[in-house]
Amino acid sequence: MYLGLDLGTSGLRATLVYADGIAIASTEATYPIAHPHPGWSEQAPSDWVDACRTAIDALAQAHPQQLAALRGIGLSGQMHGAVCLGKDDTPLRPAILWNDTRCADEAGALDAQPQVRALSGNIVFPGFTAPKLLWMETHEPELFAQVDCVLLPKDYLRLWLTGERVAEMSDAAGTSWLDVGARDWSDTLLEAGHMRRDQMPRVIEGSAVAGQLRDELRQAWGIPHPVAVVGGGGDNAVAACGVGAMREGQGFVSLGTSGVLLAARDGFHPAPETAVHTFCHAVPDTWYQMGVILAATDCLNWLARITGQKPAALSALTGDRITGPSDLTFLPYLSGERTPHNDSRIRGAFLNLDIGHDAADMTRAVMEGVAFALRDNLQALKSTGAALHQPLAIGGGAQSEFWVRTLATVLDLPLDLPQAGDFGAALGAARLAMAGVTGDDPAQIMSPPPIARNIEPDRTLTGAYDDAYRRYKNAYPAMKGLL
Ligand code: XUL
Repeated sequence: MYLGLDLGTSGLRATLVYADGIAIASTEATYPIAHPHPGWSEQAPSDWVDACRTAIDALAQAHPQQLAALRGIGLSGQMHGAVCLGKDDTPLRPAILWNDTRCADEAGALDAQPQVRALSGNIVFPGFTAPKLLWMETHEPELFAQVDCVLLPKDYLRLWLTGERVAEMSDAAGTSWLDVGARDWSDTLLEAGHMRRDQMPRVIEGSAVAGQLRDELRQAWGIPHPVAVVGGGGDNAVAACGVGAMREGQGFVSLGTSGVLLAARDGFHPAPETAVHTFCHAVPDTWYQMGVILAATDCLNWLARITGQKPAALSALTGDRITGPSDLTFLPYLSGERTPHNDSRIRGAFLNLDIGHDAADMTRAVMEGVAFALRDNLQALKSTGAALHQPLAIGGGAQSEFWVRTLATVLDLPLDLPQAGDFGAALGAARLAMAGVTGDDPAQIMSPPPIARNIEPDRTLTGAYDDAYRRYKNAYPAMKGLL
């Protein structure tokens, strides 16, 4: 029996998985995000621990025999957050999260330093970890001076589970302190970020064993034998393990709060100038590249909020079929944008609004705008040499037939829709635990889920969507010129 823990931005999911890879039970526990100032986004690491204890306690209650057979735990987590620990492992302040933009100036300055993009393989985005510490150095110097170690969010959970300070490659790749090609901390990058190697946790591969579950927890959950805790990974890498996107050409498009277009890579092919992210995968000798848009279903959630509706009710307004693009253009930059613009200041817009437009038209335009943004991402990904043959469409937005059909046609790519079931990051985390404990080839364990349907692009509409995409593309520089 294996346990996958996925520490998300709004909650933790724990999934218990049989050795044959079938999930038997999942529990969830939520926690709040604090926004004490505009652009700030923080969480209390103790809330993650409480959620983890609650979720596993619930599994122990409902499935005592299965939990007693637990052999390994894998972790997946929201990336980039900074958990700053003092000497005694106590957090010095709340964790600063991936969607916190307070350190945009520090990120820009670090990004401009020679060697930083070349070694880290990435732009230093404001959400990444290194600029957060530079911000602390200026604004909270007494706390900065006490930083004994910086952990990523899921690695803090591991510290509680095992007592060990350990990071792994896929999440460490999003700090701007890791040499992503060499898969090790970089002294040059650490120096650029005013940090030292002794402040970094030990870094291992995601499928390697990091430590053992503490006896106190093991006994509380009724487990009579040792339980290994493996490295795990950042949420997108682990989701890729959950859907079997491990080799060149395999990948997924995710319509979640943010939108992600991910392609697995056999080698390290950084292209920071494209604003594509190039990170280590959660298994050895493998990388992945992804375009990230900061608001995908978040755009629909926003429209639902301001129209007093539920997102599902808005979705229902579009019907299932696509008939060609809307005459309304939507720019989905509600929280700024990462790929391809790397622009934390740009904001969204509706263009060509007409007195006759209604909520259905606006919903359709929002879904199309997100699809166009993902087409920008596909072009950026392709320019790095990455190929995507028939990606899986995952995430909450993939439940909308209209949205997935629009996306397939706008991207001109057939999309696979997986059957309902547990195939996300929690399953990927459990699979990494399986690889670590058994020593089996990760490629055998990380298989794709059963496919329910394949959605083909509607080529009779390609020309019309191409025209609409050109209008969309012209809008960004025009908007930027106005602000
Ligand atoms: C990836 C990223 C998000 C977070 C939150 O670069 O910022 O996917 O990991 O989920």
